[in-house]
Amino acid sequence: MATTCARLRILSAALLVCLVAVFTAPAGAQQQPTMVNPTAQSVKERELLKELNKIQGRSSLPDARSGVLEQPAGRDWRQFHQVTLRWVGAIAILGMLAVLVLFYLIRGMVRIENGRSGRTLVRFNAFERFVHWMTASCFIVLALSGLNITFGRELLTPLFGPEMFATWSQWAKYAHNYLSFPFTLGVVLMFLMWIAWNIPSGTDIRWIKEGGGIVGKNHPPARRFNAGQKAIYWVVVLGGAAAAVTGYLLMFPFYATDVSGMQLAQMVHGIVGVVFIAIMLAHIYIGTIGMQGAFEAMGNGEVDVNWAQQHHSLWLEKEAQKGHVKGGSVAPAE
Ligand code: HEM
Repeated sequence: MATTCARLRILSAALLVCLVAVFTAPAGAQQQPTMVNPTAQSVKERELLKELNKIQGRSSLPDARSGVLEQPAGRDWRQFHQVTLRWVGAIAILGMLAVLVLFYLIRGMVRIENGRSGRTLVRFNAFERFVHWMTASCFIVLALSGLNITFGRELLTPLFGPEMFATWSQWAKYAHNYLSFPFTLGVVLMFLMWIAWNIPSGTDIRWIKEGGGIVGKNHPPARRFNAGQKAIYWVVVLGGAAAAVTGYLLMFPFYATDVSGMQLAQMVHGIVGVVFIAIMLAHIYIGTIGMQGAFEAMGNGEVDVNWAQQHHSLWLEKEAQKGHVKGGSVAPAE
């Protein structure tokens, strides 16, 4: 009997404790609605994020800022990285390819109208060509390895399988990091060696109004670089500088900026990268199948006098006066 009484007492005490717990818990929560113990095991990531605006921990890296695991702007950044950048990139690059194919089908190659004269003059010296091809080859690898970061997983994993894609991506990332240095050097050298010929001038206005001799049949006069080439030059200098600065911010994380700065750097780097690639496709088109006689300027460094007369008449005139034409004299430009 005594045992039964003792059991009943324990049971009723337990019931009382449960009742107190059930009825007092909501009241406590109402009193302190925003209090979350960040170290409690049961705290959910989402609650923490709401409470503290970021989820932060300890990291073994020397910089404490690398311990930020989650913060609200991260979602916007992920949306940009996974959706917006892909759309901008696909539209810019595929759009440019479509325009170039259409242009080639309608206009065809811009030919040297009077045929080759057989007389030539130097357009780019060996150093200029070396700098151009060093920068261009770095750019092509940077472009392909950069596009791999944005589009690679979706496009290549089904073809390569995950293992091979991972190996390729690792090498592509090494190439992207290391080739950024000679690319930056190339952009700086291009800036210095060609700046004198790339200051906008009155001749550019006429060149643009007359469609540069590429759209239409006129061949407006131009100095060493026409308005289209000046535009390419400034895209390379300014685009290259923007890509380099933001790229180095990403390569050396948290040295010069915090998480939001890193996200901004990544966004600018991505957009500059895809637009840069689209514009350089037009440059590559004109330098190869778009214009007869153009490639040799960067190939062996010399161009035909009739090519120079058609596309850079004012430059040819000056070079002829200096006696730089090989194989005979040249009639003055109109
Ligand atoms: C396979 C790729 C490329 C080809 C075939 C190519 C071809 C050419 C040619 C033929 C010229 C001389 C044009 C002339 O004589 O008037 C030239 C100039 C130039 N290239 Fe490239 N290029 C390529 C890639 C690049 C890249 C990737 C960059 C920079 C990132 C670049 C930057 C320049 C600049 C700044 C000039 C001087 C301005 C101009 O002519 O537009 N090139 N290129």
